[in-house]
Amino acid sequence: MTNDINSRYGLNPAHSEVVAACEIVKPGKALDMGCSNGRNALYLSQQGFQVTAVDANPSAISMLQGIIDEEKISTIKAQVYDINQAELGDEYDFIACTVTLMFLDPSRVAAVIADMQKSTVVGGYNLIVCAMNTTETPCPVSFPFTFDSGELSQAYQGWELVKYNEDIGTMHNGAKLQFATLLARKIV
Ligand SMILES: C[S@@+](CC[C@H](N)C(=O)[O-])C[C@H]1O[C@@H](n2cnc3c(N)ncnc32)[C@H](O)[C@@H]1O
Repeated sequence: MTNDINSRYGLNPAHSEVVAACEIVKPGKALDMGCSNGRNALYLSQQGFQVTAVDANPSAISMLQGIIDEEKISTIKAQVYDINQAELGDEYDFIACTVTLMFLDPSRVAAVIADMQKSTVVGGYNLIVCAMNTTETPCPVSFPFTFDSGELSQAYQGWELVKYNEDIGTMHNGAKLQFATLLARKIV
């Protein structure tokens, strides 16, 4: 299964880390946090996941809902939700949060991550990709929130870090910046 639907609706392919995670994470109940117009949610649904896709932007959710309706997709539930609330109120096998944490209220990020962790079943996975700002590689974009070196891995102590790196990457607009990338499995 590919990004066929994404290209049909002019969406980018799913985030490469979502695609990579799908090599490891078995289909189950997934949450796409900050789904925008759904490139990852659509991909996950095509991989066999039951997806809840949330975003604070009603226009993005409306566009995704249009695709869901048009394609008669029964495996994606799209809803407007402010991630800063940190009140997911459900449990998931896989929670993906790619290039979204950096737009949150910095004072809420710890609570948001704790809520993601609480809302993951034992044996389930969290995927996070987020911009960093370090002395060595200052962030060229003034995001409200960025991670410092080692900060994201620290937040996942007690989880199995299936993948973790703090590599230099490229944003959609071509800007070079450092990202913390984590795929972690809840083991207790
Ligand atoms: C750069 S986009 C990333 C979209 C998607 N995760 C991806 O990988 O393509 C960031 C998304 O986060 C959403 N967002 C920002 N703040 C949010 C909040 N407080 N609650 C929910 N979504 C939020 C934005 O509306 C936007 O769609």
